[in-house]
Amino acid sequence: MQRQHLLYKGKAKSVYETDDEDFLILHFRDDTSALDGKRIEQLARKGEVNNRFNAFIMQKLADAGIETHFEKQLSSDEILVKRMDMIPVECVVRNFAAGSLVRRLGLEEGQALTPPTFELFYKDDALGDPLVNESIAVTLNWATDAQLAKMQELSHQVNDVLKALFDASDLMLVDFKLEFGVFYDRIVLGDEFSPDGCRIWDKNTKKKLDKDRFRQSLGDVIEGYEEVAKRIGVPLN
Ligand code: TMP
Repeated sequence: MQRQHLLYKGKAKSVYETDDEDFLILHFRDDTSALDGKRIEQLARKGEVNNRFNAFIMQKLADAGIETHFEKQLSSDEILVKRMDMIPVECVVRNFAAGSLVRRLGLEEGQALTPPTFELFYKDDALGDPLVNESIAVTLNWATDAQLAKMQELSHQVNDVLKALFDASDLMLVDFKLEFGVFYDRIVLGDEFSPDGCRIWDKNTKKKLDKDRFRQSLGDVIEGYEEVAKRIGVPLN
């Protein structure tokens, strides 16, 4: 399948139409952003590493019976996906406190969260992706109650599968963000799962191996992503 015209340029991926109206091509770029797109840098190999990482994770989720938009890997930095109507909320699951939850509630970073939390954020960079809830999402017609319930159920299932996967490689899945869409009336996992949208720490040293290395200017950003990829068995070439 060939790329047709550019439909949308996101912060890290570009979305192209194909000659089949049910499918799109996602191109993973090297662009890396923080501060809702106000800071952008190119990090060599990131597009490829995230593409391969995401393809590996999406396959694991499909194997566990979770429907995703992923169809197949087309090249080192492109995949074919189902074309969906995206729901404009980000679903965040947390197993340990970090990031905005620590800032909002004054928790200690690394505090275990049992049971894991589930939050919704409205996807809007200009507003800084504000925290919202189900009532707001329903009233503003972003999703129905039933769709939100399904998104929460699937988010927890994804957590169960991936927590175990990372744990087996002595890695902690601290938190992650998912996005869902509607494909022929079904809620289906979309977007990507890569170290750009989750927090992963080494279990023993608590070393950060995700995008916090970029956000906090810790250096060796892609080296961190590659270490996680190698440890969980992502084929990197
Ligand atoms: P937070 O601590 O900043 O709320 O982020 C929680 C997790 O979700 C973290 O792994 C980063 C991810 N995330 C994104 O990838 N994009 C977003 O826009 C937001 C709000 C969170």
